[in-house]
Amino acid sequence: MKLPILHYPDKRLRTIAKEVSKVDDETRLLVKNMFETMYDAPGIGLAATQVDHHERIIVIDITNDKSNPICLINPEIIEKDGEIEWEEGCLSVPKYYESVKRANKIKVRALNEMGETYEIEADELLSVCIQHEMDHLNGILFVDHLSKLKQRRLLEKLKKTAKVKN
Ligand code: NI
Repeated sequence: MKLPILHYPDKRLRTIAKEVSKVDDETRLLVKNMFETMYDAPGIGLAATQVDHHERIIVIDITNDKSNPICLINPEIIEKDGEIEWEEGCLSVPKYYESVKRANKIKVRALNEMGETYEIEADELLSVCIQHEMDHLNGILFVDHLSKLKQRRLLEKLKKTAKVKN
């Protein structure tokens, strides 16, 4: 089932997600729906926060053919190294792209859909994507990393578009 995606500046995107205490069938159904929502959008990552579900769950697939679905539950960055600048976008901020600086290499510990602990090492796009989605779980959007001027311009643009729609 496809889930509705919240759009910036919706206040619910500022919610800090809770740890998943038990990975069960309900969690797996949410993960399945999140993958469906992400692939349909289409996007390469989605955090539960974006579908107004405030648990620490992320889905990612940076391939073009849906061949590497990654589910991270209660993700934790345990190592980071280097710096990279990447032009990011977000399903919650449609049609807006800006460069953000993040760590290049990261090592992340998380649970999978079966509730098993695993570790994943990532760099470049996958690393950027994981960090972007983990930000969502803390109520942070990629636009928060931009200058105040850029943030103000974006909000003004969104206000204008909303007026046109009405
Ligand atoms: Ni996003």
